[in-house]
Amino acid sequence: MVYDSAMGSSPHVLVTGAAGYLGSTLVPRLLAAGCRVTALDDFRVSRTSLLGCAGDSRLDVIRGDVRDEATVRRALASADVVIPLAGIVGAPACDREPFDAVTINRDAIALLNRLRSPDQRVLFPTTNSGYGKTDGTTACDESTALNPVSLYGRSKVEAEALLLDAGNAVTFRLATVFGVSPRMRLDLLVNDFAWRAWRDRTLVLFEADYVRNFVAVEDVADLFAFAVEKGAALDDGPYNFGLSDANLSKRALCELVRGAFPGFTWTESATGTDPDQRNYVISNAKIERAGHKATRSVPAGLESLRRAFAMLDGATFGNA
Ligand SMILES: NC(=O)c1ccc[n+]([C@@H]2O[C@H](COP(=O)([O-])OP(=O)(O)OC[C@H]3O[C@@H](n4cnc5c(N)ncnc54)[C@H](O)[C@@H]3O)[C@@H](O)[C@H]2O)c1
Repeated sequence: MVYDSAMGSSPHVLVTGAAGYLGSTLVPRLLAAGCRVTALDDFRVSRTSLLGCAGDSRLDVIRGDVRDEATVRRALASADVVIPLAGIVGAPACDREPFDAVTINRDAIALLNRLRSPDQRVLFPTTNSGYGKTDGTTACDESTALNPVSLYGRSKVEAEALLLDAGNAVTFRLATVFGVSPRMRLDLLVNDFAWRAWRDRTLVLFEADYVRNFVAVEDVADLFAFAVEKGAALDDGPYNFGLSDANLSKRALCELVRGAFPGFTWTESATGTDPDQRNYVISNAKIERAGHKATRSVPAGLESLRRAFAMLDGATFGNA
């Protein structure tokens, strides 16, 4: 079946990496919107994050590897839209597993491209760390040159180029995501700072003036649901996506964290570097013109993290 958003039929969405941090918030969101969902994952990071969806007969689950041709053919069989989330995510994880980083983040996207039919639309998340280190003041839009610093950034930028060259693809250059998800990640910057504030009440801050953009995990799920619903009415191409009023320095983020975790303090240090050298202001004007805007604030996300930490205390989660 070819999905035609104008005809109002419910699309069938293949989500790879469905059990991950983004996927385990997205899959229930798509099911709630009436989509059929095929969730493909090797479940290396969580076996439990999608259990809440198991009662929904519109969900199919495939346990397998996105690098395996037969698995991908089977998963693609009746999909109208593909959201490939599977990956080795973050610079530290990619440096630890460079073979998997390249074969999963880039080569599996080439395989997907080869196997998908031209009418199977791809909605792909990449990272706005692809903009690399800038002067930290000029806003990066989608025409800004990409300059990824890490293996993670390079593998995502190469995968994005493969998809955009092939056509019928939209890529979302996501800000650093924050918030609570069934598969939790505490290595993401907001979640990490909040976790340290909760557990240690203090942290050592390096590159305090470096600025980046942030976005709530629920807003990312809404973005994909919006793009599924819009179909071809959303033009192909790259779109930045983050909270337009949250281009924040790490110091400004610490101040917000102190608001949610009273008593939190930090010490600024001249040593220490981010492997992705993220220092950029992001313009999200293009996706906002197309009709979608992130709305959930960093302080609201910090409040939900505080409630979650009361449950998670003592556990470890994340990719770092
Ligand atoms: N979280 C963020 O801040 C952020 C920002 C920008 C882009 N992204 C992108 O979004 C996607 C999802 O990120 P996340 O935060 O959910 O990461 P995650 O690590 O929580 O999830 C990745 C998922 O991929 C699965 N996976 C890994 N290798 C696989 C394989 N070979 N076959 C099948 N499944 C496999 C894992 O089991 C996991 O469920 C990634 O592509 C990432 O690059 C995330």
